[in-house]
This record gives sequence, C-alpha cells and structure tokens, in this order.
Amino acid sequence: MTLSQKLATLLLAISALSAPSLADDAYQTHCASCHDATGAGNPSLGAPNLTLFSSAYLQRQLRGFREGWRDTTAPYTQTMSSAVGALDADVIAEAVLAINRLPDSRKISVAKPAAGNADRGADLYTAYCGACHGTTAGGNDALGAPSLLGLNGRYLARQYGHFSDGRRGFHADDRYGKQMTRLSRSLKDPSLIDDVSAYVAQLSQ
Ligand code: HEC
Ligand code: HEC
Repeated sequence: MTLSQKLATLLLAISALSAPSLADDAYQTHCASCHDATGAGNPSLGAPNLTLFSSAYLQRQLRGFREGWRDTTAPYTQTMSSAVGALDADVIAEAVLAINRLPDSRKISVAKPAAGNADRGADLYTAYCGACHGTTAGGNDALGAPSLLGLNGRYLARQYGHFSDGRRGFHADDRYGKQMTRLSRSLKDPSLIDDVSAYVAQLSQ
C-alpha cells in the first residue's frame, strides 16, 4: 500500500470507530421502526422511550420478553415479544449498546399531558414509589427499579395495571417483577395512577 492508501484506510477505520453508522446498527435495524430512530418511543404503537433505562434494566426486560415473563395475550406485549423473539442474543446485546449511545430523551411525545392531578400525584409518589424509583424518578439499579422519566402516562398506567393484574411479575425467575407486583396493590384506583403519571411527567420536563 502507498502511504496515501494507508492514510485513507486509517481515516476510514477512525471514522468507523468514532461515528457508528446509524443505518447499520442493530438498534436501527431491529428496533427503531417502533421505538423511533431517536429511541424516544412511539405512543401510537405503544412503544416506550428506551433512552433513560440502564443497560441492566434493558437486558433484563429483553430476557423477560424472550423467556415468557410477560403475558403475551396483552396486545402490545405480543407485538414486542414477536419482534425480538427470533433475534440472536448477540444482536440483542448490540442493540442495547446502541441504545446506550443514543442521547437521553425526556420528551414525552403525546399531545395531551396525563389528565391527573400532579399535586396529589406528588404526595402519592413520595409515599409509595420514591423509595425504589428514586426521589426524582431516575430509577435505582441496586433495587432493580427503572427510571420512570420520559414514559408517557398511558404507558405508565398500562404497565402498572399489568403488574396488578398479574400479567407481569408472575414468572418464577422474575425476581424484580415480583417486587413491583407486590407493591402494585397499593394504588387500586386507576385515577391515582393518573395523578402519579402527571407528577412524573412534570419531573420529566
Ligand atoms: C413491532 C414493534 C416493536 C419492535 C420492532 C421492537 N419493540 Fe420493543 N416494545 C414494543 C412495544 C409495543 C412495547 C410495549 C410492550 C408492553 O406494553 O408490554 C415494547 C417494549 C420494550 C421494552 C420494555 C421497556 C420497559 O419499559 O420495560 C424494551 C426494553 C424494548 N421494547 C426494547 C426493544 C429493543 C431493544 C428492540 C429491538 C431489538 C425492540 N424493542 C423492538 C414494540 C416494539
Ligand atoms: C419495592 C420497590 C418498588 C416500589 C415501592 C415501586 N416500584 Fe415500580 N418497580 C420496581 C421494580 C423492581 C420494577 C422493575 C420490575 C421489572 O423488572 O419488571 C418496577 C417497575 C415499574 C414500572 C414499569 C416501568 C416500565 O418501564 O415498564 C412502573 C410503571 C412502575 N414500577 C411504577 C411504580 C409506581 C407508580 C410506584 C408507586 C405507586 C412504584 N412503581 C413503586 C420496584 C418498586
């Protein structure tokens, strides 16, 4: 190789390292059609924002979808389970790495904010949720509790309902899901979840 050829090869290698091409990363290929190219989610498809989750949480949920920890008779759960069920484990691992490279997005992409009462939600959040999900809802990996920031109200309420209805957190291996299931009995009235969602939406801004 001539010097200029070597230089060109080197430059190509550097640009490949520093700027992974969006088009060929595992996230863009297998996930972005639903979770959006930015990772911020798509409420009309029921697909949540992924950019604020830790890799430990992402990996565990992906394992859960593939190993039957979630009830796939729920329509959105079924969509997600079939999207990732047939992928190789290393493709999933690459997708998680790619998600961690995406900029955090707290944008809650719904036209209308949650209808709840954010003041009442603040009290409920502090009393029932903050000990695990963190005082500012940023999550706590040591307790397995994810960030709730950037999740739209409908998604948050649906997942809460999945825990209280036994659609999530029932599997013998799903240790953290079970913890949330036990806790999910504390707010029985769905309007209280709307209040908490309204407060979390405020924290997300
Ligand atoms: C066909 C649409 C679709 C595709 C493709 C898809 N997802 Fe999903 N994903 C969803 C939906 C819908 C949900 C919500 C599931 C539910 O409500 O139970 C979801 C949920 C998730 C969750 C759970 C988040 C949480 O809050 O617990 C993770 C993690 C996730 N997806 C990651 C991925 C990754 C990584 C890929 C690509 C490898 C991917 N998804 C591909 C639609 C999709
Ligand atoms: C005892 C600790 C604990 C408390 C208290 C707690 N959670 Fe959780 N929560 C968890 C854990 C652990 C998970 C992760 C479960 C899993 O891995 O599937 C979770 C998951 C969730 C999820 C699913 C998020 C997603 O992206 O799918 C929602 C929504 C949620 N919690 C809402 C709440 C709300 C609202 C409160 C207060 C009313 C609350 N939690 C109180 C431990 C807790």
